[in-house]
Amino acid sequence: MTLSFTLVLLATAFLSIALSDAVDTSTDPATKACQLLANAFPQLVAFPGSEQYSSDIAHWAFTSTQNATCTIEPETAHDVGEILKIIGRSDIMSPFAVKSGGHAYNVGHSSTTGVQISMAKFTGLDYDPGSGTVTIGTGFLWDEVYSRLEPFGVMVNGGRVPGVGVAGLSLGGGYSWKTNQFGLGIDTIVSHSVVLPSGEQGGLNNFGIVTNITFEAHPQTLVYGGQITYASNVSNVVNAATSDFSANNKDPKAQIISSLGSASGELVAVVLFFYDGPTLPSGIFDAFFSIPFTSSDISTRTFVDLFGTFGNTTVGSGPMGNVGHVVPVTDYPVDLLNHIAEEVIVLEGRLTRANDGLPVVVAVSAEPFLNAFSHSRGGAYPHPSSRQVTPMAISVLYEINLNSTQDEQSGFHEMVVSSVKELSNLIQAEAVSLGVSRWDDILYPNYALDGTSLELMYGSNVQTLREIAAKYDPDGIMKLTGGPHF
Ligand SMILES: Cc1cc2nc3c(=O)[nH]c(=O)nc-3n(C[C@H](O)[C@H](O)[C@H](O)COP(=O)(O)OP(=O)(O)OC[C@H]3O[C@@H](n4cnc5c(N)ncnc54)[C@H](O)[C@@H]3O)c2cc1C
Ligand SMILES: *[C@@H]1O[C@H](CO)[C@@H](O)[C@H](O)[C@H]1NC(C)=O
Ligand SMILES: *[C@@H]1O[C@H](CO)[C@@H](O)[C@H](O)[C@H]1NC(C)=O
Ligand SMILES: *[C@@H]1O[C@H](CO)[C@@H](O)[C@H](O)[C@H]1NC(C)=O
Ligand SMILES: *[C@@H]1O[C@H](CO)[C@@H](O)[C@H](O)[C@H]1NC(C)=O
Ligand SMILES: *[C@@H]1O[C@H](CO)[C@@H](O)[C@H](O)[C@H]1NC(C)=O
Repeated sequence: MTLSFTLVLLATAFLSIALSDAVDTSTDPATKACQLLANAFPQLVAFPGSEQYSSDIAHWAFTSTQNATCTIEPETAHDVGEILKIIGRSDIMSPFAVKSGGHAYNVGHSSTTGVQISMAKFTGLDYDPGSGTVTIGTGFLWDEVYSRLEPFGVMVNGGRVPGVGVAGLSLGGGYSWKTNQFGLGIDTIVSHSVVLPSGEQGGLNNFGIVTNITFEAHPQTLVYGGQITYASNVSNVVNAATSDFSANNKDPKAQIISSLGSASGELVAVVLFFYDGPTLPSGIFDAFFSIPFTSSDISTRTFVDLFGTFGNTTVGSGPMGNVGHVVPVTDYPVDLLNHIAEEVIVLEGRLTRANDGLPVVVAVSAEPFLNAFSHSRGGAYPHPSSRQVTPMAISVLYEINLNSTQDEQSGFHEMVVSSVKELSNLIQAEAVSLGVSRWDDILYPNYALDGTSLELMYGSNVQTLREIAAKYDPDGIMKLTGGPHF
């Protein structure tokens, strides 16, 4: 197997600076680091109580958020290098985290009780029509990237619903509305700017901090699609249409995400449709369009307009908890989907009762692709054309019960975690018995629950990734961040 890795090493990361600041007698590494950072970057550091602090620690899911000791918003790659040097000083070694869009499912992956680095100020965007590439700062959400690119008549392979960040999605893989045509986000990356300790294509926060990424840009016309919501009494018909689309679609411009979700004891099927052109060739979505729906919003429009209508994944009115996982499958047989529909209703009922009746949503999304891995250029996440699995996303969102104690809240979260593990196991067992999954199939790292083994996420790349980590981050500075490490 060949792994293609691009290294863009910034000289700044190697410059040795004299750090003569005196540190107080406190022994807490994070407190020391914050003190030094506040001295070195008084304008960029924030502490609890400030607006900047709140926005720097904020995550899409409240359960992925932690109270950092301080936060910092570097403005340049040079700043990032200096920050890493302070954090990684041998007498400090403070825990820290790097956040781009803050959509990580697991606590500690982009949150910390130490130093929270937010990439929010990295919002450079440079489209080069000559080379057909665009360089994008890792402080952006895809929403903004798409809006800025639309006037140029081009797009990149980014997120499929609003709110997700540039760095996490594409470094971890990146399933996009254009994945059938051009591959995962990571397959369309031309180069990175990385601040060491170490730089590598893929591997999330394992090798360094990425400040911007250069992507291939592809011409963009008007698109066709939208969202349809169906009532539970037709979910089996929707499942049949999903299964048929997965098995038989031949047009790479057509993609869907077909979700079965249960809330308040009510099952709904929600399908997002995307066709990369202004007019839909006949036949492609006919089976879905002939099913009676509760709401439908399908039309020809700009990419940005269509994208803006997708998703809106929220639950309840208070802070939101999230637990997600993934089952790798090669196809979506209708029996599998019909069983899933029954299972999500049962689990949602059980969790809603345990959450004192506060809203819980249990959803499973079929994400069928067409030869998505045929565009693979390697990278940390194995996606070889010889074994093309697609990620079936398992997710539970819930409103956090603020009346209950911290312990009760963590107890409920743990219950959701074990339920998600059980549900994923059950679904994969059915998928394996139907011949559409194997127990050693790779789990998409961006969807995988904490505790998933490195081998299940990175397969035979693990050894190479360990060697890269040892070579470019010999002192293990990046291991001061949370999440899985090589
Ligand atoms: C609502 C929703 C929709 C989603 N849709 C899609 C989708 O369409 N396709 C898809 O493939 N995935 C999707 N995902 C999964 C998504 O790719 C992951 O959650 C991803 O980690 C989010 O990236 P982020 O930058 O927003 O997250 P963050 O939480 O900011 O970061 C995630 C990880 O990346 C690391 N990281 C962040 N910035 C940097 C940096 N500058 N340098 C190095 N490491 C960094 C973090 O440390 C962390 O480990 C979705 C998730 C959600 C919640
Ligand atoms: C985080 O800080 C907030 C605001 O001070 C506080 O209400 C909350 O309890 C803290 N959370 C933890 C886990 O310490
Ligand atoms: C990307 O990063 C490099 C290195 O720091 C910098 O020179 C360049 O200006 C950045 N480009 C954008 C668009 O942010
Ligand atoms: C399905 O339920 C809806 C109400 O949610 C009802 O209007 C419709 O007639 C039902 N369809 C069938 C086929 O039972
Ligand atoms: C998304 O959900 C929120 C909260 O339920 C709601 O206020 C908002 O209007 C919704 N947005 C869209 C585009 O549906
Ligand atoms: C939380 O407490 C408030 C005030 O006592 C009460 O009105 C509300 O119903 C409670 N919520 C839950 C979910 O128990």
